This record gives sequence, structure tokens and C-alpha cells, in this order.
Amino acid sequence: MARRLSSSFVVAALAVFAAAEPLENRARDSCVAIAGQKWVAPKDVRACYTSFQVQADIKSNILEVVNKTLAFHTSVNYEFRAPAPFTNDVHEDVLGDLARIGYQHYPSDLDFHIDLSRSVKRLNDGHCVYINSCYDSAFITYLPTPLVLLTDAQGRQNVHIAPEAFTVASTEFADQIQVWQDALPGLLKGQLASLSGAKVLLINGADPFVAVNANAQIAGSFQALGTRQNGFFASYQRATSSWNYVLGNFAQQSLPLTDSVVLTILRSGHILPDTIILPYRSRIGSATVPFTDSASFRQNNCVAIDGTNGVNAYASDSSTSRQSEPSLPPPAAQPFRQSAPISRADARKYAVNALLDSIPLHDVALPPALAPTNPISGSTGVSQFYILDDGKTGVLALGSFSAPDFNTMIQTFLAGLQGLKAKGATQLIVDVTNNSGGFICAAHWLHRLIVGSKSTSFPQAGLNTTARAGPLAQLLSHTIATNASADPDRFLLYNPLHWFFPNNTEFAADFDWLGEPVRKVVNGRQDAFSLTLSDGCLVEPFPITPPAEALFDSHKVVIVNNGRCASSCALFSITMAKEEGTKTVVIGGKQGVQQQYAGTVGGQSTDFSRIDTEIKTALLKDHPLAPPDFKTNSVQGITWRLGYGIQDPTQPEEWQNHPADVNLPLTLETVNNPVAIWKQIAKTLLA
Ligand SMILES: *[C@@H]1O[C@H](CO)[C@@H](O)[C@H](O)[C@H]1NC(C)=O
Ligand SMILES: *[C@@H]1O[C@H](CO)[C@@H](O)[C@H](O)[C@H]1NC(C)=O
Ligand SMILES: *[C@@H]1O[C@H](CO)[C@@H](O)[C@H](O)[C@H]1NC(C)=O
Ligand SMILES: *[C@@H]1O[C@H](CO)[C@@H](O)[C@H](O)[C@H]1NC(C)=O
Ligand SMILES: *[C@@H]1O[C@H](CO)[C@@H](O)[C@H](O)[C@H]1NC(C)=O
Repeated sequence: MARRLSSSFVVAALAVFAAAEPLENRARDSCVAIAGQKWVAPKDVRACYTSFQVQADIKSNILEVVNKTLAFHTSVNYEFRAPAPFTNDVHEDVLGDLARIGYQHYPSDLDFHIDLSRSVKRLNDGHCVYINSCYDSAFITYLPTPLVLLTDAQGRQNVHIAPEAFTVASTEFADQIQVWQDALPGLLKGQLASLSGAKVLLINGADPFVAVNANAQIAGSFQALGTRQNGFFASYQRATSSWNYVLGNFAQQSLPLTDSVVLTILRSGHILPDTIILPYRSRIGSATVPFTDSASFRQNNCVAIDGTNGVNAYASDSSTSRQSEPSLPPPAAQPFRQSAPISRADARKYAVNALLDSIPLHDVALPPALAPTNPISGSTGVSQFYILDDGKTGVLALGSFSAPDFNTMIQTFLAGLQGLKAKGATQLIVDVTNNSGGFICAAHWLHRLIVGSKSTSFPQAGLNTTARAGPLAQLLSHTIATNASADPDRFLLYNPLHWFFPNNTEFAADFDWLGEPVRKVVNGRQDAFSLTLSDGCLVEPFPITPPAEALFDSHKVVIVNNGRCASSCALFSITMAKEEGTKTVVIGGKQGVQQQYAGTVGGQSTDFSRIDTEIKTALLKDHPLAPPDFKTNSVQGITWRLGYGIQDPTQPEEWQNHPADVNLPLTLETVNNPVAIWKQIAKTLLA
């Protein structure tokens, strides 16, 4: 284009051309098209993500951090092949996959990320999840038609578009709903509302359960197939300040991998099916830092941030001074922890068992017509108490076992249960739908309050547990037990002063509790664990004294959820069901598939950054088994302590059976309507 220009002009033009070159580059820069946009097409997000080539040093850094962190995860060898009834569900050789991924070539960095994150997800263990915020939920991909699984009067089950779909979508996606309205064909154009409640005959031309099961293969988080199937569908959850709507994996995805779906549906009141194509749309994630091109996308979202890696808790050069409590950066995992936020002080003081998910907690509202109202006074945050109009059924809706403040949470449990009794409640429904855990001792405290003081709840109601005793874990224990200056503020997990023998006697400060590991062969592989620890949730040091008598007859207590009750929620539900005879109900599961009332039990969970803090504080970062720092904006979760079983105390509770007593069918009237569900349970199971 500059060919025919005079030479003086050429000089000027060259200068312009040089300045313009970045512009030209930007035209070829696949991230520019999505920069500064709120809503974009998934294929445009993919074009950005796939424009990044694998960088060998970054790839090997990620694999090394993950591999070396897994040495602290209790379950690697168990998950190689889980016992019945989970043998078909959990059989992942994660270290073998890391080695394979190390050799494999990928067309793009996104392909590498997908292979790694799905390999870890195949553990079906929501404590052990790999997340990279460069990709996971940097954009979240949505459809306006969340699905539900309903049962009709004849007992036939069908997938439906949720009856509340349009209400939810038009509120949450007000600035995008027109795109979907316009995407509908022919006379349906603009009639998205008329799809709500429609029966879904086919998804992409196949039986809907083909899609449900395909998702169950990659969703991770829970051992049981039924629980992973349930994750495809919409559900609800009590959050800190509101009732939330969970869209489910069909309508909400952490990666932009699907462009559209073909649905063959039968709308209510119609006799002929319609076939529609709906585009998925990607919305920028709430934590994604704005960017203008690929370079700034990478710089702002893909490199390690404060909290990605651990710190030496006593470092004198840390920005806050040493004399107060050891200060830690906010955990990078926090947005992905599927439980309410915890204050930093309490996160340090109280052990936590909680799920990680590649979609952060978010706050889509449960439509007001479905949200329970009039909680009794004393309800706070995730703990809401209601009395049903039968005057005798109390309800505790508990969306999480974590809260900003531990003491407030346990005081709320006591005041709320006493409040229900004062209003005449003689029976109790505990709704823990989507409760992914939190404070371990809060779970056992709730158990203790309900059943009173008895052998299963005093001096504490927790499971016995064990930590993994790999060589570096042993060195951590040894370093702290033999050097009183190593952790004077009792900050570290490996400090013996946190732990108790099974008879609830505290360890001494110089007890090297991993010094003589218990050697085991797990699935034919040599492994080593600590001696057995009590959960240590002793009632005595709690700030309030619980009443000695039971607040409710445990046989008149029903625990209800969608199966998605994990971690501390699983600890609570399992001990109540197996020790106290409490009934368990799963709502809306597929007929013929065993519904588990809880899963992903763990014992205590943590993540790489916390393990890195232990290592750095104990001055062991130079050890060859110490994971290096993550260079990327990544998180690797682990189970740090694993609970032993109640029925078989020689084996972990994690892979023992937790069959729900009842799989309660949902209907157009009851689905995602907590009060309607509670009333039905009161009428049919507590009458
Ligand atoms: C992962 O760690 C194990 C030890 O736990 C080691 O034997 C193996 O070589 C490591 N693999 C990779 C791919 O780094
Ligand atoms: C709640 O359940 C949905 C599926 O219904 C799942 O996708 C989501 O991860 C769960 N959320 C939490 C906070 O556990
Ligand atoms: C923990 O172990 C102790 C000692 O073996 C035993 O008495 C106790 O019942 C166990 N607790 C549980 C919950 O299994
Ligand atoms: C004990 O720990 C302190 C603090 O980490 C460290 O400075 C010191 O070198 C350690 N002492 C020994 C003998 O390892
Ligand atoms: C508790 O168990 C430990 C380890 O077996 C033992 O040393 C200690 O004496 C026991 N404490 C009590 C009070 O029985």
C-alpha cells in the first residue's frame, strides 16, 4: 500500500506504520474481541484461551506443584480403586495421569488445562480439585433454561425446563435475555417465558440422560453417580444473606466449551413438540480483572497472586509486624470454596472441611415466590429456622457449616433450636441442600445439641482421623516437635499442640506425632499415615455450655438434601444417621440409581498454599520434596485428615455406603420450593 508513495512520505508513513503495528497485531490478537465486554460468545472466549501455546516451564511448574502437593493428600492410593459400592465411580491413577500429561503435547494451553483439571476431577473428590483462574470461571457460560428432574402423578420421571427458569433468567440475565428471545425460531421468537416447565424430550437429539451422564463423567466433586447426576439440575441453597438459586451444570459451566444446545421440548398445554437451538453465552466472571488484549489478560488473570503461594508466617520482613498473630495472605482458594466466607481469625483458629469447585459461590436469587419467609428470630446468615404451619415441625435450613464467626454460628444453632422448641416444635427437618461444609467442630456441636450428652456426643462427636505421613510431612512434624521456636504461636497444622489421642488426651508440645508412621498397603501400594487422632471437637472449651438433655428425639429428625452435602455436612449427616438413627431424604434423584445422602466426607481439607506456608514456616522450602511456588493463578485442594468409618473403623468413612432412606420425587409444584418440600416431608415421613 505504501509502494507508490514518494520517499519523504514513505518515511512518515513508515513511522505511522511502526506505531500502528501493535494495532495490526491486536487485530490478530484473539483476546481483543472479548476485552471490555460483559457478555460474549463462548467461541470468542475459546479463541482467546486457545491462542496461548503451552509454555514448557509453566507446564512443568504446574505439574510439579500438583504432584508434590498430592503427597499430602490422604486419599491418592485409595482413589486408585475405591471399594464397593464406589468401585465403578472412583478409579483414577492421578500420579500416572500427571506423568502422562508431562509427556503429552497439546495444541494449546487450554487443552493442557482441561486434561489436567479433568484428570484430577476424575478422583470425584471435591476436596482434591485443581483450579486455574486463568481459565476456570474467568468467563462463566450460561443458558437461560436450567433443568430439573420431575416425577408425574403416574410415577414417570422426565427432565423439564425448570418452571421458574424464565423468572430466574430474566432477573439474573436482564441484560442478555433479548439475545435468547431473538434466538428462538419462528413463532417462539420472544416467547422464552413459554418454555418454563416444558418437558425435555431430547437434548442434542438424544435421550436427556445421555447429556446428564456425560456431565457426570467430568463433573467431579462427589463419588456417587447419583450425586453427580443431580449436579446437572437446578437446586437451591441458603446463603449468608439470601436464598440462592443454583443453576446446575447444564445451564452454568466454568469453561466456554459449548456453543449451543438443541432441545426438543413439549411445552405445557401443547401437543406437538418444538425443536429449538439455544446459544450458550459467556459472562465475565466477577473476579476477572479487566484486560485489553492477550498480554494484559495473561498478566492480570493468569499469574500467581497474593495467596496463591504460602508465606513464612513468622517472616520478619512480612508487611505486618511479628509481635501480633502470624499474618497470612487471603487464601486464593476462597472464591472457589463452596461455603460461606470465614473471617481470617477464625480460619486460623478452627479446622475446616469444605469443598472446592471450579465455579465460585455466586448469588443468583431464588425467586421470591419460592424463598421461605418469616424465619424465627435468632436466625442468622446461613442458619435459618422456621416453624411449619402444622405447629410441630421445626426446620433448620443450613446452607453451609461456615460463617464469618465460629462462635456466632454455634450460638445461633443453640438459640435457634431452643426457639423452635419454645414455639412448640417436637420434630425437626434439617435441610442441608448444597451444604459443602465448613467448620468441623460446628458440625459436631450441632449433633451434640440435638442428641444431648451421650456416648456418641461426649466428650465429642467427631470421627477418628489420620493424616498422611509422607517423608516431608514427617519432617514437618519432627521440626516443630524438636524446636520450640519453630512455631511459638501454634499456627502450624503439624504442631502437635493442635491434636489429640483417640482418648481425647492432648499431645505434648514435643510429641513427634508423625515420627512412627503407621505403614499400610492401600490398593497394593505402600502408604504411611499418622497414628489415629481424635477430631478434638471437645465440648468443654466451647464458649457456651450446651444443655445436657436432647433438644429433639433423633428419630424425629430428618436430614434432607439433593445428595450434595459434603465435608463437614457429611460428617454431621453421617454421624446422625449411623449413630442416632436419623432419617435421610434425598430429593429429586433418578429412579433406580442409589442416592447417597452425603459424600466427599474427608476429615479436614486444605490446599497447596497452606501446605506451602507450613513448609516455608518450618524453613523446609529447599527440601527436594517441597513443591515450588505456583507461577500461575492456581489452586490445588487436598484432604489433609481422613476420617475413619463408624461401621468399619478400620477403613475411611469416605468410601463407605451412605444410602438415603428415601428418594423423594419432585413435581412441578415442589421443585425448588423448600417450604413445599418440608411440608411434604412433615406429612409423609414425620407424621
Ligand atoms: C510425582 O511424585 C512421585 C512421588 O510422590 C514421584 O515418584 C514421581 O516421579 C512424580 N511424578 C511427576 C510426573 O512429577
Ligand atoms: C449445588 O448443587 C449444584 C447442582 O445442583 C452444584 O453444581 C453446585 O456445585 C452446588 N453448590 C454448592 C455450593 O455446593
Ligand atoms: C475413636 O477411637 C476410640 C479409641 O479406639 C474409640 O473409643 C472411639 O469410639 C472411636 N470413635 C469413633 C467415632 O469411632
Ligand atoms: C528453630 O526454629 C527457628 C525458627 O524457625 C530457627 O531460626 C532455628 O534455626 C531452629 N533451630 C534449630 C536447631 O533448627
Ligand atoms: C490416652 O492415650 C495415650 C496414648 O495411648 C496415653 O499415653 C494416655 O495415657 C491416655 N490418657 C488417658 C487419660 O488415658
